[in-house]
This record gives sequence, structure tokens and C-alpha cells, in this order.
Amino acid sequence: LADGPLKGRRVLVTSGPTHEPIDPVRYIANRSSGAQGTAIAEALRDLGAEVVFVTGPADAPRPAGVEVIEVETAREMRAAALAALPAEAAVFAAAVADWRMAAENGSKIKKQAGKLPTLEFAENPDILAEVSQMTEGRPGLVVGFAAETDDVVANATAKRTRKGCDWIVANDVSPATGIMGGSENAVVLISGEGNEVWPRMGKRDVAARLAARIAAALGT
Ligand code: C5P
Repeated sequence: LADGPLKGRRVLVTSGPTHEPIDPVRYIANRSSGAQGTAIAEALRDLGAEVVFVTGPADAPRPAGVEVIEVETAREMRAAALAALPAEAAVFAAAVADWRMAAENGSKIKKQAGKLPTLEFAENPDILAEVSQMTEGRPGLVVGFAAETDDVVANATAKRTRKGCDWIVANDVSPATGIMGGSENAVVLISGEGNEVWPRMGKRDVAARLAARIAAALGT
């Protein structure tokens, strides 16, 4: 482990999309490369943190020097995240699917001429909200993300209150920004002490800046 301000501090990071099976061959997913979450895990590692990285099926190569836990669904991600606690800080960078199928289809849904299937959804657990609202063993600092396409700061501020996390990293993922799947990010850090607009920069630089902020917040 690297020497640094987070030496010996345990930090949970969730990353990537989740996949929710429709049947054995189809799934619904969120559009997430896992690049930002991976960069955050690496930046925390470089400050000495003991990182537990819970990732859905993401394209981004897995970070080295961290504990990697691979999951597929939101429910698996929740179980892995809770099992990784206690941690001093938790960063929820995953793009979790909001819904899964209400019932599992053990066999492939057959295509039938002139007949369309109807999919019935059930709500997935909100991992960030659950961990933020833990009454026992809550990480000292809980950081969520808000990927928005409209009214970014207003929506993200409301999300911070609704979920109960300490900070929200808000970003504009409108297609025109090229952020989704790209190498840059433009974020606003929303804390209890106001909004910080960060300039557009590489996802690695966003990660390094966030990791440094986390180290400062946790103190020595
Ligand atoms: O509600 P929304 O999906 O916009 O919230 C985004 C934030 O909440 C992210 O930090 C994401 O990782 C987290 N989240 C979660 N579990 C969910 C949905 C979102 O942890 N089921």
C-alpha cells in the first residue's frame, strides 16, 4: 500500500453499471463505462487507502492494488457493498439500474409473430440511500454521484437531501457533453457547505481532486 494521508483507511467504491437479466440471454443496463469509478479507486489507493472496489460488468480495466468484487445485479452490488462495511468513507460511483424484472424468466422469452412481450418491473434497492441512512456503522463520509441531463445542480441538491449522503458529485451527462463514455468530466461538488464548480478536466484529475478532498475531510 502506498504511503499517504489515507494510509490504513478503508474506503468502499462502487462502480460501473449493473445488469438486470430479462431472461438468460437479455438484460437491461445503464450506460456506464466505469471509467470515473475506476479512476477514483486508483486515486484513493495512491493516497494509501485500503480500497474495496465493487464493480458491475464495466468495460474499464479493473484497478490494480485494490480488492475487486465483481457483481452483476443491483441486489448483488448491495450485498457486496454492505459486506464491505465498516469503512471510513464510501463513494457510490456506480450507475445502478433502477429496476429489475418483477419475476425471473428462467427460459428465453420466445419471439412470436405479431405478439410483443410486456415486461413488468420491480424497484431495485437504493444502495446509496440505505448506507447514508444507516443508524449504526455508517461510514463517516458518504459520497454519491448525480448524473443529470437537466437542472443539474437543483436536481443533485435535492438528491443529496433525499438520500442523506454527505456530498454529491453532480455531472451533466447530456449527449452533447460527450461525458458519458468519454475521458473528461465536468462536475459540481455539492456539500453541506455550498457548491464548488470544478472546471472540465480528465476523469483522472476529477478522481485525484476528489480523493484529496476525502483525505482532508477524514483528517488524520
Ligand atoms: O437516484 P440516482 O440513480 O440518480 O442516484 C445516483 C446515486 O445513487 C449514485 O451515487 C449511485 O451510485 C447511487 N445509487 C445506488 N443505488 C441505486 C441507485 C443509485 O447506490 N439503486
